[in-house]
Amino acid sequence: MMEVVDAQTFILGAPVERLEAEVAALSRTRHAIGCASGTDALLLAMRALDIGRGDEVVTTPFTFFATAGTIHNVGATPVFVDVEPDSFNIAPAAAAAARTDRTKAVIPVDLFGQMAAVEQVAAAMPGVPVIEDAAQSIGARRRIDGEWRMAGEAATIGTFSFFPSKNLGGYGDGGMIVTQDDAIATRLKRLRVHGGATQYFHDEVGYNSRLDALQAAVLRAKLPHLAAWSAKRRENARYYDAALADVGGVRTPVIDPDNESIFNQYTIRAERRDDLQAHLKSRGIGTSVYYPLPLHLQPCFAYLGYRQGQCPEAERAAGEVLSLPIYPELTRAQLDEVAGAVREYYGA
Ligand SMILES: Cc1ncc(COP(=O)(O)O)c(C=O)c1O
Repeated sequence: MMEVVDAQTFILGAPVERLEAEVAALSRTRHAIGCASGTDALLLAMRALDIGRGDEVVTTPFTFFATAGTIHNVGATPVFVDVEPDSFNIAPAAAAAARTDRTKAVIPVDLFGQMAAVEQVAAAMPGVPVIEDAAQSIGARRRIDGEWRMAGEAATIGTFSFFPSKNLGGYGDGGMIVTQDDAIATRLKRLRVHGGATQYFHDEVGYNSRLDALQAAVLRAKLPHLAAWSAKRRENARYYDAALADVGGVRTPVIDPDNESIFNQYTIRAERRDDLQAHLKSRGIGTSVYYPLPLHLQPCFAYLGYRQGQCPEAERAAGEVLSLPIYPELTRAQLDEVAGAVREYYGA
């Protein structure tokens, strides 16, 4: 960080370029382009694919708001399809069934750190670009046709968030876009600086969406630890899995054997979820509900005309999910305390 201060190049510059090279190497992509947030990464990705007014983008309603908010903000229409109950990720067949001649992209989300079945989505929708919202899954892997592929690697475009609560979090906002496509990468680099490849000359109208060099310095210091932190989260997850296996009322996360999750969240399904959450709070244990209201039922999307019951798995999940503390620094005693409090609630 002091190097950045000494150099006085606070926006983009050498630390950002180095981080881009490192994230591209991790993700096994030809390109990585830093930007201001995971939200902007989605926005820029859609602009790079010329998605706008009159277009439809298929996605999941069981995700953070940004996935669909950005579809709306480029002028396109979000088309919500249901998720699979085990992974909470978009159901490939449902995505394919929602395809129309206006479909310009599909956005699977790697929820809670487990990659979506991006290759199945791509196969079910041939010719439709796949934007993988990998905000929660940097460094996650999925075995595709017998080969491990990294989050972002197999999609047309992958998007990451460096929001502080992510496995790789900055000291503020930040994001990155990865792609194997040279032309898309060139376009993204232009779009993030107001659409001008040459300063003060603008080929198109873009955005101010750059990654700060100070954030890149922080992220570069943290990146070498990412694999170990994510491994520790997996270890914590296995501990909870075992400690909660026999608790009636709780269903521990289901990870596809062809996936290696980075467990950005450890999300159980729980009977009487809200009451359990209150009980844990009374024991000093912080938990979160990601996400309490699926996006197809959000007031801001009422204009799309969705009704309760149209994405039943997402709606059921919204009423049952609870994310327990999973961060790598948790001690064995803390894990026992959390699991013990859940067991206590259900009388196990
Ligand atoms: C699935 C998903 N998409 C998009 C985002 C947006 O990222 P950011 O907060 O960096 O804008 C987030 C994170 O907050 C996310 O979890």
